[in-house]
Amino acid sequence: MEAAVRRKLVAANWKMNGSSAANAQWVAAWRAVKAPCEVAVCAPFVYLPQVGAGLAGTSAELGAQNLSEQAPGAFTGEVAGEMLLEVGCRWVIVGHSERRAMYGENSELVAKKAARAVALGLKPIVCVGETLAERDAGRTLEVVGTQLAAVLSLCPVEQLASGALAYEPVWAIGTGRTATPAQAQEVHAAIRAQLARADTQAAQRARILYGGSVKPGNAGELFAQPDIDGGLIGGASLAAAEFAAICAAAT
Ligand code: PGA
Repeated sequence: MEAAVRRKLVAANWKMNGSSAANAQWVAAWRAVKAPCEVAVCAPFVYLPQVGAGLAGTSAELGAQNLSEQAPGAFTGEVAGEMLLEVGCRWVIVGHSERRAMYGENSELVAKKAARAVALGLKPIVCVGETLAERDAGRTLEVVGTQLAAVLSLCPVEQLASGALAYEPVWAIGTGRTATPAQAQEVHAAIRAQLARADTQAAQRARILYGGSVKPGNAGELFAQPDIDGGLIGGASLAAAEFAAICAAAT
């Protein structure tokens, strides 16, 4: 199979962190950074206009952390993809494990959200990953495969490849416990093989990010794996310098 050239992508997931003052500091520091990769900064909804304005003229694109599966209408507390586009978002995280575990997002809803994003031209970062109990039971590939299959039932690989997938083992998120490069590569390769069964060429183009306790010290080794095309960075994205150091590892 012909080797695809996939430009690395590093995305910041600020989660429910930030403040007007902290965001202003972050973007001011970021403006001096020359990242060798594509970059997305996924900020909380209310700060999107502020962060978007701060990132203007840099190579980083704005992203959100969630969207509604619905078109605008009577859905109290929800945010539509149209609104994200209007405030300048190009990216949106979909199906993060924190939303699956704490906000009841099942694979069917995650698939609808991904489909809504791509229908609007927003680039989704669709997250999949197993819990520690599932890994210990030897069910990692089955769990990740089932999560991915739900998304593929509504979104062709071609459309998913406009955004990215993110493999985030739940046991590695915010725990300081990273998957080894070999553990991550095994799952990334399985994800790409599953994509390839649906669309060989689009599977070669699709970027698969690793997320879970990525730090400047382990990013290079992870990003060097053949099927790891960048990262989704939580805690270490909150300081611009640390995030920039991770981006620097994505050459
Ligand atoms: P972490 O989070 O880098 O803090 O582990 C990653 C994520 O949840 O996207």
